[in-house]
Amino acid sequence: MIMVPYLALSFVLFSVPYAVTARAFRNTGGSIVLEEAWTIPSLVNDTSLIPPFNQTSSELVSNILDIHNQRLAFMNENDIDFMVISCASPCVQGISDTETAQQQAVQLNNILAQSISNSTDRFGAFAALAMQDPAVAAQELRRTVTELGFLGALVNDYQQSGPDGMTLLYYDQPEYDVFWETVTELDVPVYFHPRSNIPEIITLEYAHAIWLEGPAQEFAATLSTHILGVITNGVFDRFPTLKVIVGHLGERIPSDFFRIDEQLRRQLINGLPMLRNASDYWRTNLWETTSGNFATPLLQFHINQIGIDRILFSIDYPYVPIPEGAAWLDTLTSVLNEQDFLSVKRNLAIQLLKLDQ
Ligand SMILES: *[C@@H]1O[C@H](CO)[C@@H](O)[C@H](O)[C@H]1NC(C)=O
Ligand SMILES: *[C@@H]1O[C@H](CO)[C@@H](O)[C@H](O)[C@H]1NC(C)=O
Ligand SMILES: *[C@@H]1O[C@H](CO)[C@@H](O)[C@H](O)[C@H]1NC(C)=O
Ligand SMILES: *[C@@H]1O[C@H](CO)[C@@H](O)[C@H](O)[C@H]1NC(C)=O
Repeated sequence: MIMVPYLALSFVLFSVPYAVTARAFRNTGGSIVLEEAWTIPSLVNDTSLIPPFNQTSSELVSNILDIHNQRLAFMNENDIDFMVISCASPCVQGISDTETAQQQAVQLNNILAQSISNSTDRFGAFAALAMQDPAVAAQELRRTVTELGFLGALVNDYQQSGPDGMTLLYYDQPEYDVFWETVTELDVPVYFHPRSNIPEIITLEYAHAIWLEGPAQEFAATLSTHILGVITNGVFDRFPTLKVIVGHLGERIPSDFFRIDEQLRRQLINGLPMLRNASDYWRTNLWETTSGNFATPLLQFHINQIGIDRILFSIDYPYVPIPEGAAWLDTLTSVLNEQDFLSVKRNLAIQLLKLDQ
Protein backbone atom coordinates (compact mmCIF):
# COMPACT_ATOMS: atom_id res chain seq x y z
CA MET A 1 0.00 0.00 0.00
CA ILE A 2 1.12 3.54 -0.63
CA MET A 3 0.13 4.77 2.80
CA VAL A 4 3.20 4.02 4.82
CA PRO A 5 5.90 5.27 2.45
CA TYR A 6 3.89 8.38 1.65
CA LEU A 7 3.28 9.12 5.28
CA ALA A 8 6.96 8.77 6.06
CA LEU A 9 8.00 10.91 3.11
CA SER A 10 5.49 13.66 3.32
CA PHE A 11 4.04 14.75 6.57
CA VAL A 12 5.80 14.24 9.82
CA LEU A 13 3.48 12.88 12.44
CA PHE A 14 5.42 10.48 14.56
CA SER A 15 3.60 10.76 17.80
CA VAL A 16 -0.11 11.25 18.02
CA PRO A 17 -1.35 13.50 20.79
CA TYR A 18 -4.76 11.90 21.06
CA ALA A 19 -5.88 9.68 23.84
CA VAL A 20 -7.94 7.43 21.63
CA THR A 21 -10.15 5.98 24.33
CA ALA A 22 -11.28 8.96 26.38
CA ARG A 23 -11.88 12.31 24.76
CA ALA A 24 -11.96 15.42 26.90
CA PHE A 25 -14.11 18.03 25.17
CA ARG A 26 -15.34 21.37 26.40
CA ASN A 27 -18.57 20.35 28.01
CA THR A 28 -20.23 23.54 29.20
CA GLY A 29 -23.72 22.97 27.82
CA GLY A 30 -22.96 24.67 24.51
CA SER A 31 -23.85 23.28 21.10
CA ILE A 32 -22.00 20.72 18.98
CA VAL A 33 -21.78 21.09 15.19
CA LEU A 34 -20.62 18.55 12.64
CA GLU A 35 -20.95 19.71 9.03
CA GLU A 36 -18.33 22.42 9.08
CA ALA A 37 -15.87 22.87 6.23
CA TRP A 38 -12.16 23.55 6.07
CA THR A 39 -9.54 23.04 3.39
CA ILE A 40 -5.91 23.57 2.46
CA PRO A 41 -4.71 26.34 0.10
CA SER A 42 -4.01 23.99 -2.82
CA LEU A 43 -7.64 22.80 -2.86
CA VAL A 44 -9.42 26.05 -2.06
CA ASN A 45 -10.23 26.92 -5.68
CA ASP A 46 -11.95 23.56 -6.16
CA THR A 47 -14.56 24.46 -3.56
CA SER A 48 -17.55 26.75 -4.03
CA LEU A 49 -16.47 30.31 -3.31
CA ILE A 50 -19.94 31.87 -3.42
CA PRO A 51 -19.97 33.69 -0.07
CA PRO A 52 -22.87 34.29 2.33
CA PHE A 53 -24.68 37.63 2.03
CA ASN A 54 -22.54 40.60 3.02
CA GLN A 55 -19.31 38.63 2.70
CA THR A 56 -16.73 38.67 -0.06
CA SER A 57 -15.20 35.57 -1.66
CA SER A 58 -11.89 36.45 -0.07
CA GLU A 59 -13.51 36.49 3.37
CA LEU A 60 -14.95 33.05 2.62
CA VAL A 61 -11.49 31.83 1.56
CA SER A 62 -9.98 33.20 4.74
CA ASN A 63 -12.69 31.53 6.85
CA ILE A 64 -12.41 28.15 5.18
CA LEU A 65 -8.63 28.00 5.61
CA ASP A 66 -8.76 29.09 9.25
CA ILE A 67 -9.26 26.98 12.35
CA HIS A 68 -7.87 28.78 15.40
CA ASN A 69 -8.70 32.42 14.70
CA GLN A 70 -12.13 33.68 13.52
CA ARG A 71 -13.65 30.17 13.53
CA LEU A 72 -12.82 29.64 17.17
CA ALA A 73 -13.81 33.24 18.02
CA PHE A 74 -17.24 32.66 16.40
CA MET A 75 -17.61 29.44 18.38
CA ASN A 76 -16.80 31.21 21.61
CA GLU A 77 -19.18 34.08 20.87
CA ASN A 78 -22.00 31.73 19.91
CA ASP A 79 -21.92 29.08 22.60
CA ILE A 80 -20.44 26.26 20.50
CA ASP A 81 -18.52 23.80 22.62
CA PHE A 82 -17.27 21.45 19.93
CA MET A 83 -16.96 21.36 16.14
CA VAL A 84 -16.22 18.42 13.87
CA ILE A 85 -14.21 19.65 10.87
CA SER A 86 -14.13 18.05 7.42
CA CYS A 87 -12.61 18.82 4.04
CA ALA A 88 -14.66 21.19 1.86
CA SER A 89 -16.46 19.64 -1.10
CA PRO A 90 -15.55 18.06 -3.46
CA CYS A 91 -12.22 17.42 -1.77
CA VAL A 92 -10.77 14.01 -2.66
CA GLN A 93 -13.99 12.97 -4.44
CA GLY A 94 -13.02 15.44 -7.19
CA ILE A 95 -9.61 13.81 -7.83
CA SER A 96 -9.92 11.07 -10.45
CA ASP A 97 -6.45 9.59 -10.41
CA THR A 98 -6.43 6.85 -7.80
CA GLU A 99 -2.92 7.27 -6.44
CA THR A 100 -3.14 11.08 -6.37
CA ALA A 101 -6.47 10.89 -4.52
CA GLN A 102 -5.16 8.37 -1.99
CA GLN A 103 -2.06 10.43 -1.28
CA GLN A 104 -4.11 13.63 -1.01
CA ALA A 105 -6.46 12.00 1.50
CA VAL A 106 -3.57 10.87 3.72
CA GLN A 107 -1.95 14.28 3.53
CA LEU A 108 -5.21 16.11 4.34
CA ASN A 109 -5.96 13.85 7.28
CA ASN A 110 -2.46 14.32 8.68
CA ILE A 111 -2.59 18.10 8.28
CA LEU A 112 -5.99 18.29 9.95
CA ALA A 113 -4.91 16.01 12.82
CA GLN A 114 -1.81 18.11 13.34
CA SER A 115 -3.74 21.39 13.12
CA ILE A 116 -6.25 20.46 15.81
CA SER A 117 -3.81 18.48 17.96
CA ASN A 118 -3.52 21.32 20.49
CA SER A 119 -7.30 21.90 20.61
CA THR A 120 -8.95 18.50 20.67
CA ASP A 121 -11.28 19.78 23.39
CA ARG A 122 -12.86 22.11 20.78
CA PHE A 123 -12.28 20.34 17.45
CA GLY A 124 -12.73 16.84 16.11
CA ALA A 125 -12.39 15.55 12.56
CA PHE A 126 -14.09 13.43 9.93
CA ALA A 127 -11.61 11.75 7.58
CA ALA A 128 -11.29 12.52 3.88
CA LEU A 129 -11.18 9.27 1.93
CA ALA A 130 -10.26 8.36 -1.64
CA MET A 131 -13.07 5.98 -2.59
CA GLN A 132 -11.65 4.45 -5.82
CA ASP A 133 -10.40 1.38 -3.95
CA PRO A 134 -12.77 0.45 -1.11
CA ALA A 135 -10.09 -1.57 0.72
CA VAL A 136 -7.68 1.37 0.74
CA ALA A 137 -10.49 3.69 1.88
CA ALA A 138 -11.22 1.27 4.72
CA GLN A 139 -7.55 1.14 5.67
CA GLU A 140 -7.28 4.94 5.78
CA LEU A 141 -10.47 5.20 7.82
CA ARG A 142 -9.06 2.70 10.29
CA ARG A 143 -5.80 4.63 10.53
CA THR A 144 -7.51 7.97 11.10
CA VAL A 145 -9.89 6.57 13.72
CA THR A 146 -7.49 4.37 15.65
CA GLU A 147 -4.30 6.45 15.31
CA LEU A 148 -5.51 10.03 14.85
CA GLY A 149 -8.67 9.96 16.97
CA PHE A 150 -11.00 10.91 14.09
CA LEU A 151 -14.72 10.54 14.72
CA GLY A 152 -15.73 9.00 11.37
CA ALA A 153 -15.52 10.04 7.72
CA LEU A 154 -17.20 12.50 5.40
CA VAL A 155 -17.60 11.63 1.72
CA ASN A 156 -18.57 14.28 -0.81
CA ASP A 157 -21.07 12.23 -2.82
CA TYR A 158 -19.75 10.12 -5.72
CA GLN A 159 -16.07 9.55 -6.41
CA GLN A 160 -14.87 10.71 -9.80
CA SER A 161 -12.52 8.22 -11.41
CA GLY A 162 -11.12 6.98 -14.70
CA PRO A 163 -8.72 8.64 -17.17
CA ASP A 164 -11.29 11.27 -18.22
CA GLY A 165 -12.81 11.70 -14.75
CA MET A 166 -16.17 10.57 -16.09
CA THR A 167 -16.52 7.26 -14.26
CA LEU A 168 -18.68 8.00 -11.23
CA LEU A 169 -18.39 5.59 -8.31
CA TYR A 170 -21.37 5.11 -5.96
CA TYR A 171 -20.82 3.36 -2.65
CA ASP A 172 -23.97 1.25 -2.93
CA GLN A 173 -22.37 -1.54 -4.97
CA PRO A 174 -21.23 -4.91 -3.54
CA GLU A 175 -17.54 -4.07 -4.00
CA TYR A 176 -17.97 -1.42 -1.27
CA ASP A 177 -19.00 -4.04 1.30
CA VAL A 178 -15.37 -4.31 2.38
CA PHE A 179 -15.48 -0.60 3.23
CA TRP A 180 -18.83 -0.78 5.07
CA GLU A 181 -17.57 -3.80 6.99
CA THR A 182 -14.71 -1.72 8.40
CA VAL A 183 -17.03 1.24 9.09
CA THR A 184 -19.33 -0.96 11.17
CA GLU A 185 -16.45 -2.71 12.87
CA LEU A 186 -15.02 0.67 13.93
CA ASP A 187 -18.58 1.77 14.77
CA VAL A 188 -18.15 5.32 13.45
CA PRO A 189 -20.60 7.31 11.30
CA VAL A 190 -20.05 8.26 7.66
CA TYR A 191 -21.40 11.66 6.66
CA PHE A 192 -22.79 11.95 3.10
CA HIS A 193 -22.13 15.51 1.92
CA PRO A 194 -23.04 16.97 -1.51
CA ARG A 195 -20.65 17.81 -4.33
CA SER A 196 -20.81 19.76 -7.59
CA ASN A 197 -21.40 17.55 -10.59
CA ILE A 198 -18.83 16.91 -13.31
CA PRO A 199 -18.97 19.48 -16.16
CA GLU A 200 -20.74 17.08 -18.54
CA ILE A 201 -23.71 16.77 -16.18
CA ILE A 202 -23.73 20.51 -15.50
CA THR A 203 -23.97 21.17 -19.24
CA LEU A 204 -26.73 18.62 -19.82
CA GLU A 205 -28.86 19.40 -16.79
CA TYR A 206 -28.15 22.95 -15.63
CA ALA A 207 -27.12 25.04 -18.66
CA HIS A 208 -30.75 26.19 -19.00
CA ALA A 209 -30.80 27.59 -15.45
CA ILE A 210 -27.28 27.86 -14.08
CA TRP A 211 -28.47 29.31 -10.74
CA LEU A 212 -29.84 25.87 -9.88
CA GLU A 213 -26.30 24.51 -9.64
CA GLY A 214 -25.24 24.13 -6.03
CA PRO A 215 -27.27 24.20 -2.83
CA ALA A 216 -30.61 25.45 -4.21
CA GLN A 217 -31.26 22.31 -6.25
CA GLU A 218 -28.31 20.36 -7.66
CA PHE A 219 -26.80 19.24 -4.36
CA ALA A 220 -29.89 17.62 -2.89
CA ALA A 221 -31.04 16.19 -6.22
CA THR A 222 -27.71 14.45 -6.81
CA LEU A 223 -26.92 13.36 -3.26
CA SER A 224 -30.42 12.09 -2.44
CA THR A 225 -30.12 9.72 -5.41
CA HIS A 226 -26.87 8.35 -4.01
CA ILE A 227 -28.36 7.90 -0.53
CA LEU A 228 -31.45 6.20 -1.92
CA GLY A 229 -29.07 3.97 -3.88
CA VAL A 230 -27.40 2.92 -0.62
CA ILE A 231 -30.81 2.26 0.93
CA THR A 232 -32.44 0.41 -1.98
CA ASN A 233 -29.37 -1.67 -2.84
CA GLY A 234 -29.61 -3.23 0.59
CA VAL A 235 -26.42 -1.85 2.19
CA PHE A 236 -28.24 -1.39 5.52
CA ASP A 237 -29.66 -4.90 5.27
CA ARG A 238 -26.14 -6.28 4.94
CA PHE A 239 -24.79 -3.91 7.64
CA PRO A 240 -27.63 -3.40 10.13
CA THR A 241 -25.48 -1.35 12.53
CA LEU A 242 -24.16 1.05 9.87
CA LYS A 243 -24.56 4.75 10.77
CA VAL A 244 -24.93 7.35 8.03
CA ILE A 245 -25.42 11.08 8.62
CA VAL A 246 -27.07 13.32 6.03
CA GLY A 247 -27.04 17.12 6.18
CA HIS A 248 -29.46 19.88 5.16
CA LEU A 249 -32.40 18.16 6.88
CA GLY A 250 -31.88 14.87 5.06
CA GLU A 251 -31.43 16.19 1.51
CA ARG A 252 -35.26 16.27 1.25
CA ILE A 253 -35.73 12.49 1.53
CA PRO A 254 -37.77 12.45 4.79
CA SER A 255 -40.05 15.11 3.27
CA ASP A 256 -41.14 12.63 0.64
CA PHE A 257 -41.52 9.26 2.36
CA PHE A 258 -45.07 8.60 1.20
CA ARG A 259 -44.25 8.71 -2.48
CA ILE A 260 -40.83 7.05 -2.14
CA ASP A 261 -42.20 4.08 -0.18
CA GLU A 262 -45.33 3.74 -2.27
CA GLN A 263 -43.54 3.82 -5.60
CA LEU A 264 -40.66 1.59 -4.51
CA ARG A 265 -43.14 -1.15 -3.58
CA ARG A 266 -44.04 -1.26 -7.26
CA GLN A 267 -40.37 -1.99 -8.07
CA LEU A 268 -40.28 -5.27 -6.16
CA ILE A 269 -40.96 -7.12 -9.41
CA ASN A 270 -37.78 -5.56 -10.81
CA GLY A 271 -35.65 -7.26 -8.16
CA LEU A 272 -35.40 -4.42 -5.66
CA PRO A 273 -33.04 -5.97 -3.07
CA MET A 274 -33.95 -3.76 -0.07
CA LEU A 275 -35.80 -5.74 2.60
CA ARG A 276 -37.77 -2.94 4.29
CA ASN A 277 -39.50 0.29 3.32
CA ALA A 278 -36.99 3.03 2.55
CA SER A 279 -38.39 5.21 5.35
CA ASP A 280 -37.70 2.49 7.93
CA TYR A 281 -33.93 2.87 7.61
CA TRP A 282 -34.27 6.50 8.75
CA ARG A 283 -35.36 5.18 12.11
CA THR A 284 -32.44 2.76 12.50
CA ASN A 285 -29.43 3.69 10.35
CA LEU A 286 -29.68 7.29 9.17
CA TRP A 287 -29.40 10.60 11.04
CA GLU A 288 -29.88 14.10 9.67
CA THR A 289 -28.47 17.50 10.60
CA THR A 290 -29.93 20.98 10.26
CA SER A 291 -26.92 22.35 8.35
CA GLY A 292 -27.94 25.35 6.25
CA ASN A 293 -31.64 24.49 6.53
CA PHE A 294 -33.04 26.50 9.41
CA ALA A 295 -36.71 25.86 8.64
CA THR A 296 -38.59 25.35 11.90
CA PRO A 297 -41.85 23.94 10.45
CA LEU A 298 -39.84 21.47 8.36
CA LEU A 299 -37.85 20.45 11.42
CA GLN A 300 -41.10 19.78 13.26
CA PHE A 301 -42.41 17.72 10.33
CA HIS A 302 -39.19 15.71 10.26
CA ILE A 303 -39.38 15.07 14.00
CA ASN A 304 -42.73 13.51 13.22
CA GLN A 305 -41.29 11.52 10.30
CA ILE A 306 -38.07 10.12 11.79
CA GLY A 307 -38.11 11.05 15.47
CA ILE A 308 -36.27 13.59 17.60
CA ASP A 309 -33.55 11.00 18.21
CA ARG A 310 -32.40 11.20 14.57
CA ILE A 311 -31.84 14.98 14.23
CA LEU A 312 -28.71 16.95 15.17
CA PHE A 313 -27.81 20.61 14.99
CA SER A 314 -25.13 21.73 12.50
CA ILE A 315 -24.45 25.00 10.69
CA ASP A 316 -22.42 24.52 7.43
CA TYR A 317 -19.78 27.10 8.28
CA PRO A 318 -18.29 29.01 6.51
CA TYR A 319 -20.97 28.83 3.79
CA VAL A 320 -23.48 29.76 6.48
CA PRO A 321 -22.47 32.29 9.16
CA ILE A 322 -22.15 30.82 12.65
CA PRO A 323 -24.26 33.61 14.26
CA GLU A 324 -27.15 32.81 11.90
CA GLY A 325 -27.17 29.15 12.89
CA ALA A 326 -26.75 29.88 16.58
CA ALA A 327 -29.58 32.47 16.55
CA TRP A 328 -31.92 29.96 14.90
CA LEU A 329 -31.00 27.24 17.36
CA ASP A 330 -31.97 29.56 20.22
CA THR A 331 -35.46 30.05 18.73
CA LEU A 332 -36.12 26.31 19.03
CA THR A 333 -36.65 26.63 22.77
CA SER A 334 -40.10 27.95 21.88
CA VAL A 335 -41.11 24.83 19.91
CA LEU A 336 -39.21 21.99 21.64
CA ASN A 337 -39.33 20.86 25.24
CA GLU A 338 -36.06 21.12 27.13
CA GLN A 339 -35.04 17.51 26.67
CA ASP A 340 -35.69 17.57 22.92
CA PHE A 341 -33.95 20.93 22.53
CA LEU A 342 -30.85 19.66 24.31
CA SER A 343 -30.92 16.51 22.21
CA VAL A 344 -30.75 18.55 18.98
CA LYS A 345 -28.28 21.05 20.41
CA ARG A 346 -25.74 18.57 21.82
CA ASN A 347 -26.85 15.39 23.56
CA LEU A 348 -27.50 13.29 20.47
CA ALA A 349 -24.15 14.39 18.99
CA ILE A 350 -22.35 13.35 22.18
CA GLN A 351 -23.98 9.94 21.92
CA LEU A 352 -23.55 9.41 18.17
CA LEU A 353 -19.93 10.61 18.12
CA LYS A 354 -19.25 8.84 21.43
CA LEU A 355 -17.67 12.01 22.83
CA ASP A 356 -18.31 10.83 26.37
CA GLN A 357 -16.60 7.46 25.90
C1 LIG B 1 -6.90 30.32 -6.63
O1 LIG B 1 -7.48 31.36 -7.39
C2 LIG B 1 -6.93 32.65 -7.09
C3 LIG B 1 -7.75 33.69 -7.83
O2 LIG B 1 -7.91 33.33 -9.17
C4 LIG B 1 -5.46 32.66 -7.45
O3 LIG B 1 -4.88 33.91 -7.13
C5 LIG B 1 -4.75 31.57 -6.68
O4 LIG B 1 -3.39 31.47 -7.08
C6 LIG B 1 -5.42 30.21 -6.90
N1 LIG B 1 -4.82 29.24 -5.99
C7 LIG B 1 -4.38 28.05 -6.41
C8 LIG B 1 -3.79 27.16 -5.36
O5 LIG B 1 -4.46 27.68 -7.56
C1 LIG C 1 -26.52 42.85 4.60
O1 LIG C 1 -26.20 44.19 4.89
C2 LIG C 1 -27.28 45.08 4.70
C3 LIG C 1 -26.78 46.50 4.88
O2 LIG C 1 -25.98 46.61 6.04
C4 LIG C 1 -28.40 44.70 5.67
O3 LIG C 1 -29.51 45.55 5.48
C5 LIG C 1 -28.82 43.27 5.42
O4 LIG C 1 -29.76 42.87 6.39
C6 LIG C 1 -27.63 42.34 5.48
N1 LIG C 1 -28.06 41.02 5.07
C7 LIG C 1 -27.76 39.94 5.75
C8 LIG C 1 -28.29 38.65 5.21
O5 LIG C 1 -27.08 39.97 6.76
C1 LIG D 1 -2.81 25.76 18.47
O1 LIG D 1 -1.86 26.04 17.47
C2 LIG D 1 -2.22 27.09 16.58
C3 LIG D 1 -1.13 27.27 15.57
O2 LIG D 1 -0.81 26.08 14.97
C4 LIG D 1 -2.43 28.38 17.36
O3 LIG D 1 -2.88 29.38 16.46
C5 LIG D 1 -3.46 28.16 18.42
O4 LIG D 1 -3.59 29.33 19.22
C6 LIG D 1 -3.07 26.99 19.32
N1 LIG D 1 -4.15 26.73 20.25
C7 LIG D 1 -3.93 26.43 21.54
C8 LIG D 1 -5.15 26.18 22.37
O5 LIG D 1 -2.82 26.37 22.01
C1 LIG E 1 -44.06 -1.07 3.96
O1 LIG E 1 -45.15 -0.20 4.21
C2 LIG E 1 -46.39 -0.75 3.83
C3 LIG E 1 -47.45 0.35 3.97
O2 LIG E 1 -47.38 0.95 5.23
C4 LIG E 1 -46.70 -1.95 4.70
O3 LIG E 1 -47.93 -2.53 4.32
C5 LIG E 1 -45.59 -2.96 4.51
O4 LIG E 1 -45.78 -4.03 5.39
C6 LIG E 1 -44.23 -2.35 4.75
N1 LIG E 1 -43.23 -3.31 4.37
C7 LIG E 1 -42.26 -3.68 5.18
C8 LIG E 1 -41.29 -4.68 4.61
O5 LIG E 1 -42.11 -3.24 6.30
